[in-house]
Amino acid sequence: MINSDKIYDQSPPPQDFRREVLTGLTSEKKWLSPKLFYDAKGSKLFEEITRLEEYYPSRTEKWILDNYFREICSLFAEDSMLVELGAGDSSKTEQIIAQCNKISCYMPIDISKVTLADSLSKYRKKFPNLKIIPVCADYTKNLVLPYYKHSGNLGLFFLGSTIGNFEPHEAGDFLKECSEILDGRDFFIIGVDLKKDKETLEKAYNDSEEVTAKFNLNLITRIRHELNSDIEEDDFYHKAVYNEREGRIEMYLIAKRSFTVDISGSRVDFYEGEKVHTENSYKYSVDQFTDICKSSGLKKEKVFTDSESKFALFVLRTEKSN
Ligand SMILES: C[S@@+](CC[C@H](N)C(=O)[O-])C[C@H]1O[C@@H](n2cnc3c(N)ncnc32)[C@H](O)[C@@H]1O
Repeated sequence: MINSDKIYDQSPPPQDFRREVLTGLTSEKKWLSPKLFYDAKGSKLFEEITRLEEYYPSRTEKWILDNYFREICSLFAEDSMLVELGAGDSSKTEQIIAQCNKISCYMPIDISKVTLADSLSKYRKKFPNLKIIPVCADYTKNLVLPYYKHSGNLGLFFLGSTIGNFEPHEAGDFLKECSEILDGRDFFIIGVDLKKDKETLEKAYNDSEEVTAKFNLNLITRIRHELNSDIEEDDFYHKAVYNEREGRIEMYLIAKRSFTVDISGSRVDFYEGEKVHTENSYKYSVDQFTDICKSSGLKKEKVFTDSESKFALFVLRTEKSN
């Protein structure tokens, strides 16, 4: 039996971090997966990013959730479950849970255990009658959800435009896998950052307070601490550019000079100006994302956007019948 006082732990073992870092940093074009950003400090820095003036995605998505709250709530049946992928601090779903009394269980899923523990204690105080089952896992690795008996439906949420971190074809495969847990009564809500001008996008990822730079550079410190390395943040700088042809923000850590570091017993060389690609964040049109959903067996039921069409919330259903 699952004890909801505990985090249901399927977190990746530490050797996965070592393997992923060394694979990326010894490739011809160096890269690191954005999922590696989220140690305790990285998760806190991401929360700071969401409060920045230039970072429009978080407040716009929150505005859409608040504005369409009634419609979203009406999708839940009595005694339902809200499962949230990459929940972070769970602040976006809080209002839905507070006001939609049809939800009896909340299952946040995140790779960051510290973040889950923080939101668990916050939710426990605010919602004493809610069943909370936090799952620490990498959702790209055969995620198995703990069983929870309920008579209603399941609302699967994937917010924060985290879907944009996947390559478009991987996004399709990922959505297809996710849709396996849905039946005809269930629904899937995904937050998608929409295409817009280069200036707005680049400002959002190169903010004036340099919080995004700290977030990106923190990955170097994480490697230093967790992989017993002499790599240093000061030897890199942050850069984010919008690649219009690919329709994505690309985030890099760039070496300020040539040097060699030790990472867990392996030597890794960097040359001056060498880039480590740490994140892609794809921006879609509503039509482009609708096509990805279709190819994954998901049909679009509704799309909610803000007045400037900066961001969209897709409400999807599986095409398979009950
Ligand atoms: C961009 S943040 C979004 C957080 C929150 N949903 C929001 O909208 O503010 C991405 C979140 O997904 C989590 N995450 C990233 N990659 C993950 C993975 N492969 N498996 C599980 N969680 C992941 C991170 O820890 C982080 O909390």
